[in-house]
Amino acid sequence: MTNRMWGGRFSAGPSEIMQEINASIDFDRRLFSQDILGSKAHCTMLAATGILSKKDASEIKKGLDQVQSEIAEGTFTFSRALEDIHMNVENRLKEIIGDTAGRLHTARSRNDQVATDFRLYVRETVDVLDQQLKALQTALAEKAETHAATIMPGFTHLQTAQPVTFGHHCLAYVEMLDRDRGRFHDARKRLNECPLGAAALAGTSFAIDRKMTAADLGFDRAMRNSIDAVSDRDFVLEVLAAGAIAAVHLSRLAEEFVIWSSAQFDFIRLSDKFTTGSSIMPQKRNPDAAELVRAKTGRILAALTGLMVVMKGLPLAYSKDMQEDKEPAFDALENLSLAIAAMTGMVEDLVPNEAAMRAAAAHGYSTATDLADWLVRELGLPFRDAHHVTGSIVAIAEEKQLDLADLDLTDMQGVEPRITASVFNVLSVEASVASRTSLGGTAPANVRKQARRWRKALK
Ligand code: ARG
Repeated sequence: MTNRMWGGRFSAGPSEIMQEINASIDFDRRLFSQDILGSKAHCTMLAATGILSKKDASEIKKGLDQVQSEIAEGTFTFSRALEDIHMNVENRLKEIIGDTAGRLHTARSRNDQVATDFRLYVRETVDVLDQQLKALQTALAEKAETHAATIMPGFTHLQTAQPVTFGHHCLAYVEMLDRDRGRFHDARKRLNECPLGAAALAGTSFAIDRKMTAADLGFDRAMRNSIDAVSDRDFVLEVLAAGAIAAVHLSRLAEEFVIWSSAQFDFIRLSDKFTTGSSIMPQKRNPDAAELVRAKTGRILAALTGLMVVMKGLPLAYSKDMQEDKEPAFDALENLSLAIAAMTGMVEDLVPNEAAMRAAAAHGYSTATDLADWLVRELGLPFRDAHHVTGSIVAIAEEKQLDLADLDLTDMQGVEPRITASVFNVLSVEASVASRTSLGGTAPANVRKQARRWRKALK
């Protein structure tokens, strides 16, 4: 059987394989609400401009409402022979209201229709992601306020570098997530233009009102160029790029949770709600959710790369290649949403092991920089010399298997005779973090202030 929508000049229907490679209904059915919304806006505009009678328009809209509830309620039968969501909806409309349904497709094409539907979908998704990222920021800022003075080792090369506070570490992610949200906001501003009325690619001879449909659908304006309107998918690419960067951020926190919750570190305890047991090893509490968040980054990056390759070198205007934009985008954005939700739950529930964190922070000569700074400040040594003196003192501590704060003054004086007992004021991890009062530094007073500022800003 030939296709009822476009089969006029065809004598044979598509082969089964053609149908399978061509049909997008299995995945683009997800766009049904956006598709019906777009159709209703188009219909309203056609009636307002006199292209469609008021009576036909109201019949069409009533029919579309019925289609909407049939799909929402799960009583709708999707057909692969009807290719995609656009033709499935229109075909059902025809079954419900008869031939008047055929008037809906005046002055539009599936090309501007799908571009409109997808923009609506991506816009909604960006708004949801933004709220989710905000919730994650809030959870982190709350932890940061509670743990503004909880000392942990700060790492470089995953080796203890200098003591920091757990709150400070949490706020680092709040900052990253804020830039992620900024990228989504920027992308949203650019994508919020309406392709509807570009028709197949050249515009239409009907006196349509594109500004009206654009406003009706909440777009800031109608797209200025009809070829561009149906050709580009940069709005998806941009959101996927922002999503990929966000996923990379999440993967780093997830990885830290995996490391910190290990028996070797024992810095945090993840809740039962976000861990699993082992079927053979009763002692285990596996950080599966964190591992999966870490792994989700793969498919999100893959979606971006995949669609970049689909779009590369594609001549203007529409080509069926562009139908391949949807599955990876749906998958990536859904999984990003899930990853953010899982991360938020983990952050809310996690309990830091303050004693283990503090003990780890004190090991590995983490206050060596504080000693060097003291030599500069109190004895007037150039920093390079102070660094050298400190290195020699660390070597002694290493040999004696003592932390810097536990060395005898005479040991230090053996390296630099002018060192006095007041040096011990800077060698504890508490003194170290308290002294980091420079802008953006880890001093608990700074962290508390920042955490409160964030919590207020995120309200
Ligand atoms: N299902 C198609 C897509 O996702 C809709 C547009 C079809 N346009 C066409 N000229 N065949 O891209």
